[in-house]
Amino acid sequence: MKLVLFIVINLLFLHIKCAKILGVFPAPGYSQFILAEVLMKELANRGHQVTVISPYSPKNATENYRTIEVTDVLSSGDQFDLFELERKNLFTNIMTTYKFGNFMTEVTLSSKKVQDLLHSHETFDLVIIEQFFNDAMKGFAIHFNAPLVLFSSMGITEWNNYVMGSPFIPAINAISYTSYTNFMNFSQRFRNLYGTVFNYFYRNLFAYPLQKEYLQKYFPTFMDFDQIVCNASLMLLNSHITTSENSLLPYNMIEIGGFHIVQNPLSKEVQEYLDSAHDGAILFSLGSNLKSSDLSEETLNGIFKVFSKLKQKILWKFERDFPNKPENIFIFKWLKQSDILAHPNTQLFITHGGLLSTTEAIFYGIPMVGIPIFADQKMNMARASRSGIAKMLPFQELSEETLSAAINETINDTRYQENVRRMSNIMRDRVVRPLDLAMYWIEYKQILEELRSEFFNILMQI
Ligand SMILES: *[C@@H]1O[C@H](CO)[C@@H](O)[C@H](O)[C@H]1NC(C)=O
Ligand SMILES: *[C@@H]1O[C@H](CO)[C@@H](O)[C@H](O)[C@H]1NC(C)=O
Ligand SMILES: *[C@@H]1O[C@H](CO)[C@@H](O)[C@H](O)[C@H]1NC(C)=O
Ligand SMILES: *[C@@H]1O[C@H](CO)[C@@H](O)[C@H](O)[C@H]1NC(C)=O
Ligand SMILES: *[C@@H]1O[C@H](CO)[C@@H](O)[C@H](O)[C@H]1NC(C)=O
Repeated sequence: MKLVLFIVINLLFLHIKCAKILGVFPAPGYSQFILAEVLMKELANRGHQVTVISPYSPKNATENYRTIEVTDVLSSGDQFDLFELERKNLFTNIMTTYKFGNFMTEVTLSSKKVQDLLHSHETFDLVIIEQFFNDAMKGFAIHFNAPLVLFSSMGITEWNNYVMGSPFIPAINAISYTSYTNFMNFSQRFRNLYGTVFNYFYRNLFAYPLQKEYLQKYFPTFMDFDQIVCNASLMLLNSHITTSENSLLPYNMIEIGGFHIVQNPLSKEVQEYLDSAHDGAILFSLGSNLKSSDLSEETLNGIFKVFSKLKQKILWKFERDFPNKPENIFIFKWLKQSDILAHPNTQLFITHGGLLSTTEAIFYGIPMVGIPIFADQKMNMARASRSGIAKMLPFQELSEETLSAAINETINDTRYQENVRRMSNIMRDRVVRPLDLAMYWIEYKQILEELRSEFFNILMQI
């Protein structure tokens, strides 16, 4: 009997195929890395051999999770002042993002570790790349002769939809640097149209020629850029109906927004602080790219004044402490944001409106005051305020009065609560866990390829 069991178990395991998977997540944004880490760790947990090119490495990697750490891109922060971007026009925002993408692509591809990998005899069965102004990196899939899965940390946008064949319609799809939703009036549609056209020409005339150059320069064999840009098998999108809007999705684009949310216990200190917040608590964080210390002294004092008048307890993610801070303010260098949002005493989230933060707030049903600064943040907050779950507070207008009024409104007007609870239910009501959905499609493609090669092998033998 034991022998039979042994054989059966062995037969079962023979059918589980483990693949060698290369993940390319070169962006220096820490929140982008959080997403990559969840995705790649899950693949490692499932027994795949995972190699990840990234500026960060995970704290607790298993032995089948290897990181090729390219940290040089982290210095890019000095060249690109994000708070500056808030005041810049649409054109500058578009150009800066492409320039940043080119910088990141060249630094990553030219790094010694990546070059060593490209000149080694390693093979991979699948390549997963974050689509982020780095099209030359699709060369990895061709170089390793592996199918390509793309990942978009910002959902569907005007700079990633075309690679999967999805149309972008300027009359209804707002581009990501605007603060528009699908519902635009005439002047907004006009600005959206010229932004879309400018984006198209800038990409093809200025950004892509450099990407082409990097592809020729840093990959060992010649590849035709135009042939590989739009040749991915699948794109996974970090979006969901509650965080994005109605748009056209072809079958090869799968939404997995919310996949990164896993609830972990809070540290003892934070747990006790929140448990004792009988009048509620407010979480204040401007995300991982922006440092709160970029705020002016005057703005800081205003924020302190507002917070000190509240009866709620404040948890503030900040890089330095203050000597005479009011008693109800607790400052942390690093906060496990989503676990704080999960606490029943948390009432409000004051956020920069990044997609991760927005997704987590909706998941846990917490209304937001959004102070968006750059990239897709304005759009995320415009969508959230249109759904009645957030109050948008433009950074330029941030003052004692406006902040105070926004906090009062989002906490005291119960409609915010009701709306966000409803959206939370929608986000949690899924047919499959989004992480499982991602795994299904990643492994599906890979199994497909494997079957194909097996089929050819059999044919060769006949
Ligand atoms: C790292 O792994 C160990 C053992 O599996 C576990 O006890 C610990 O909590 C993990 N730490 C983190 C930060 O995940
Ligand atoms: C496009 O992708 C497929 C599937 O991975 C691959 O077989 C094909 O060679 C790729 N085409 C080019 C031009 O690289
Ligand atoms: C469109 O909406 C914006 C923002 O609400 C407003 O400033 C602008 O005047 C509107 N334009 C037209 C033509 O209605
Ligand atoms: C706070 O909000 C409540 C309910 O929306 C409103 O009645 C009240 O006037 C507001 N107070 C201040 C100081 O804005
Ligand atoms: C909300 O309303 C209550 C009662 O009117 C008031 O005490 C409180 O200051 C208001 N604002 C906030 C942020 O709770």
